[in-house]
Amino acid sequence: MKLDTFFSIILPSLASLGVVDAASGYATVDLSKTTGTAQFKASGFIYGWPDNGTSASTAIASNLVTDIKFNSNRAGGAQISAPGWAKKGYDGYIGRFNSALSNYRTTRKYGGDFLLLVHDLWGADGGNVGKFPGDNGNWSEMEAFLTQLCKDIKANNMLDGLVLDLWNEPDLTMFWAKSWDQFLGYSVRSYKIFKQNLPGTLISGPSMAHSANKNDKNWQAWAQAVSSNNTIPDIYSWHQIGAWEREPDSTMPDLNSLQKTYSLPSRPIDINEYASKDEQNPACTAFYIAQLERNNMRGLRSNWGGGAALHDSMANLVFRASGGTGGYVPNGEWWLYKYYAGMTGEKLATTGAKDRRFDVFATREEGVVKLIAGTRSVKAQYEVRISGLTALGLGKSGKVSVKTLRFDWSGDRGQVGGPVEVGVKDVAYENDEMTILVDPMANSTAYAYEFSGNKKGT
Ligand SMILES: *[C@@H]1O[C@H](CO)[C@@H](O)[C@H](O)[C@H]1NC(C)=O
Ligand SMILES: *[C@@H]1O[C@H](CO)[C@@H](O)[C@H](O)[C@H]1NC(C)=O
Ligand SMILES: *[C@@H]1O[C@H](CO)[C@@H](O)[C@H](O)[C@H]1NC(C)=O
Ligand SMILES: *[C@@H]1O[C@H](CO)[C@@H](O)[C@H](O)[C@H]1NC(C)=O
Repeated sequence: MKLDTFFSIILPSLASLGVVDAASGYATVDLSKTTGTAQFKASGFIYGWPDNGTSASTAIASNLVTDIKFNSNRAGGAQISAPGWAKKGYDGYIGRFNSALSNYRTTRKYGGDFLLLVHDLWGADGGNVGKFPGDNGNWSEMEAFLTQLCKDIKANNMLDGLVLDLWNEPDLTMFWAKSWDQFLGYSVRSYKIFKQNLPGTLISGPSMAHSANKNDKNWQAWAQAVSSNNTIPDIYSWHQIGAWEREPDSTMPDLNSLQKTYSLPSRPIDINEYASKDEQNPACTAFYIAQLERNNMRGLRSNWGGGAALHDSMANLVFRASGGTGGYVPNGEWWLYKYYAGMTGEKLATTGAKDRRFDVFATREEGVVKLIAGTRSVKAQYEVRISGLTALGLGKSGKVSVKTLRFDWSGDRGQVGGPVEVGVKDVAYENDEMTILVDPMANSTAYAYEFSGNKKGT
């Protein structure tokens, strides 16, 4: 018998007995373990506000912002006609500062925190910047720049909700074309200048493109420098962009290891850019949300727009209808964030699939459980194994009525509407554990599942 014939006969019969598992792996949810109040920590983005002089922008309808519980933004006037401080001093800088001020005011209108990109005000947003802080061991230009910036921040009443993000992706030549030692000198010096002038304002760093890695020479040298000079940022920050940079479940233990080796205290963490362009779809966004939430990280979506498009569209969550002339409308990913914004109550303990290609985020409020699940953009079946049904007042075995919602995607400018109600189905379970099979329609499809226990309350 040919092998494929053998399998085609034997597999369906084994599968019907539950012996062969078609799933590539499983994620878990423990209904009996809560991990803190849901805070929508992944509902931020970088750039994405239309500029409006120095005023808040009203171009995007406010419900598109509040419905997703937007809570953080990161900008610094990049990619506009003003080139920044390095090229033209104050005259090159002020246009960028004003753009950032407008974005700050839009962010504050919605109660969000604003992460100011100092490197963009300098003008180091790619291209030929010319000079960097500390060239030839001379820091006076940088001191003049930072002194001006601190003065303008104070004069414009820009301190509430502000975070100073010292430099973006200094580990890429595109953003820092000088030696790593010179960057470390900048980190230590800029930290001291900011703390001297704006003592109550939080500082984040190192915002590296390469995620925390205990074997990375740049991370090691940075940890050593900030620790020994007592210039440790208030928030540790880095980027999680693409599978090649792994994911928070893998990078968090590396940060812990660096902290231990270099005597760095525990601090809040900002993943102040997450997801590559082709990871921005409902499935992979659910994956990132699950990873960020589990590791208690604040997350800001990457923004892959350039020029004017960078300063628009809430980092590709909304777009102008009628080919760019109409009002703003949401795309498929926006609807996933809107659902996530409704996941109130307590977070539940979860684990991701072992292959790091599937994950789940879950909350529980008054006996109502909500989950979102998605793959890292692969079209493959996975299971969600849910334990602790007795914690909801249900029996050790029985049936639960599970409602399924599907999140479709047809690109940044695809208006797919709200989640599709797939239906409500009774799922039988035993030994206090229920399995939901997730069989995605496409590599971009995310799902939500809802069910409730017998008794209300926690
Ligand atoms: C721009 O700001 C002004 C206030 O300075 C405000 O009246 C106007 O609505 C804003 N326009 C847009 C499109 O954001
Ligand atoms: C340092 O740079 C400033 C301006 O960028 C310049 O005026 C000054 O002469 C430089 N100092 C030295 C010692 O070269
Ligand atoms: C940081 O500390 C090291 C010694 O631990 C010292 O050599 C270096 O000059 C300090 N850097 C700055 C910018 O002060
Ligand atoms: C997902 O599917 C689309 C359409 O079938 C394809 O173009 C894309 O390359 C796939 N993405 C990944 C990461 O495999």
